[in-house]
Amino acid sequence: MKSVIFDTDIGIDDAMALLFLHRAEGVRIAAITTRFGNASVEDTTRNALAVAEQFGIDAPVYRGAAGPLAQRLGEGFPEHVHGKNGLGNIRLNAPSSRPRPLSAHEAIVDLADMLDEKLSIIAVGGLTNVALALELEPALCERIADLIVMGGAFGYNGHRGNVSPVAEANIASDPLAADIVFRSGIPTTVVGLDVTHEVELGEKAVDRLAEDAGSVGRFIKESSKHYFEFHRSITGNYACPLHDACAVAYCLRPDLFQTIAQSVRVVTDGIAIGQTIHGDNLREYVSDAWDELPENTICTAVDSQAVLDLFLSTLASRR
Ligand code: BDR
Ligand code: CA
Repeated sequence: MKSVIFDTDIGIDDAMALLFLHRAEGVRIAAITTRFGNASVEDTTRNALAVAEQFGIDAPVYRGAAGPLAQRLGEGFPEHVHGKNGLGNIRLNAPSSRPRPLSAHEAIVDLADMLDEKLSIIAVGGLTNVALALELEPALCERIADLIVMGGAFGYNGHRGNVSPVAEANIASDPLAADIVFRSGIPTTVVGLDVTHEVELGEKAVDRLAEDAGSVGRFIKESSKHYFEFHRSITGNYACPLHDACAVAYCLRPDLFQTIAQSVRVVTDGIAIGQTIHGDNLREYVSDAWDELPENTICTAVDSQAVLDLFLSTLASRR
């Protein structure tokens, strides 16, 4: 059984990913850690508690970063994408539980220390909490089995940035944190827009979920209306990419993805702030910015239909 921390700025597609993880076999959610991003950290923490309570996810919730380590791209929260409350403006029951007293990064360090087995982290918001955990405990790298990050865009399959021509939203929300984490030596897989834009949830599939996956399916259909409308305004299709669920899919079935191993850095200021760039380890560069970096795993292609089927069948599997 794999123990996983789900680090999230929960958000509409984050909630789908959390429910997917919850229903998956062979994984245990050790904790949910929150941060700002799709909404304020107050709202994302409330969303995490509310979703966990509503669907019986028995995992402690730890509140994390309210802002980035340094400069980020943009300000405020993307209400046009995730709604004012981060969950598509649906009515949420006020959670009766509260976040645990430790902050998210302290909880990551403690859990990594306490558990017998090495911990996995799935991070589907920016990387502020993980960077703070590394600052608190630099030896954390040795206690993490793997970190799977939804974030970034390298241009594979024609997919570039979604908040600037080159930057993806999670990475752009804290570029320095991402650069620190990618250079840290934690075994990291980057699941970027290169592959997440290849996996779409369409209207028929979400209707099927509402029928086959009980209250979880109905919740996903209801909360994703706002998200579908946002994507329709861009693409003309009533459908949305399964960004964060792709990170969960990688955790469950890495064989559904094609990958390369390269170092990754993030641009931390200027017009390309938030851009993720991977090196080419066969070259020697003049720039010393690429010296002695660990390799990360980067997803470059995906079996889209298989990931969508895994998502739908897992959600419908236990009602
Ligand atoms: C990422 O940004 C957020 O809007 C989504 O939840 C996802 O994690 C996609 O760029
Ligand atoms: Ca997210």
